[in-house]
Amino acid sequence: MTDIQINASRRYTVKIGAGLLTHTGELASGLIKGRNAVIVSDSNVFPLYGETVRQSLEAAGFSVGAFVFPAGEGSKNTDTLVALLNRLAELRPDRSDAIFALGGGVTGDMAGLAAALYLRGIACIQLPTTLLAMVDSSVGGKTAVNLSAGKNLVGVFSQPRLVLCDTDCLQTLPEAVYAEGWAEIIKAAMIKSRPLADFLLKSSPGENIERVIAACVEIKRDVVDADEFDTGVRQILNFGHTVGHAIELLGDYRYFHGEAVALGMRIMARACCALGTCEPECLSVLETLLNKYKLPTVCDMDAGALLEAAQRDKKRSAGGITLVLPVRVGECTLKKTGFDELGTLLRLGLSS
Ligand code: GLY
Repeated sequence: MTDIQINASRRYTVKIGAGLLTHTGELASGLIKGRNAVIVSDSNVFPLYGETVRQSLEAAGFSVGAFVFPAGEGSKNTDTLVALLNRLAELRPDRSDAIFALGGGVTGDMAGLAAALYLRGIACIQLPTTLLAMVDSSVGGKTAVNLSAGKNLVGVFSQPRLVLCDTDCLQTLPEAVYAEGWAEIIKAAMIKSRPLADFLLKSSPGENIERVIAACVEIKRDVVDADEFDTGVRQILNFGHTVGHAIELLGDYRYFHGEAVALGMRIMARACCALGTCEPECLSVLETLLNKYKLPTVCDMDAGALLEAAQRDKKRSAGGITLVLPVRVGECTLKKTGFDELGTLLRLGLSS
């Protein structure tokens, strides 16, 4: 079991280990004064783990309600958010109670936002069940839903009270969902940690997974502690994401988030290598890791269409964009720029 302390506007612990979901109730009861718990989950995850969490909460004296929505990025919208808020109004948790976000990034982001909004804020405990949510989205307090204009355009910063990463959940993940978690792990290595990249190169996939998740959470902790509200260095976590979000939008979400980020990282690394600002070894390590962890490397989209999709992502067009440019393994830089330069990079990154 590994504990990592996050020191943002709220201090909280990220626990990583096998079997943690069965201890949800006892771990939450010291932090939450009230005894009403609402589990928020999706139609894939609730049948797998909903009862385990419910029984654990009930054993600790909580009375438990639930809101279960159809699985998928398509549910991460204002309609589902409002349905969730209305369900909370029926179940009537008060400010001493808590929401338990049981699932992947969609669940964590949307439940975190509902918790921040309902009664102007009730506690949220994150129970990430996907690799991607464990290594990235459940930590750091970003909550959001999508608008048709782009991803995550409605949200707030609101830190959880506790994050429980139960590594047993990884055993039930579909292969593609497991693979997209590796995209965020590879991203963490490429932006901040040569040792993690070296470990990923030499180990077999899944070896010492608790330590790998912990390494990513430690990287995220350092970045979030330095820039909780994403005005500077936190933007380094967006390596591959500006292009990745455009790929998601243009592909009508046919690519999983992690797959799109994998493609986005490779496009940026190829472009920066072509410009001579990135070491060629960085691109070869990235490509080796993407192949090893079963992530896509070939994007069949057109540079012009991708640029147009990136411009439609309105959050990014306000006041230009900040691109994350790889320099070498474990190091990236931030560059404030305009869409002209992104267009050039996309053409370079996509050319064969
Ligand atoms: N997932 C990027 C961030 O938390 O800032």
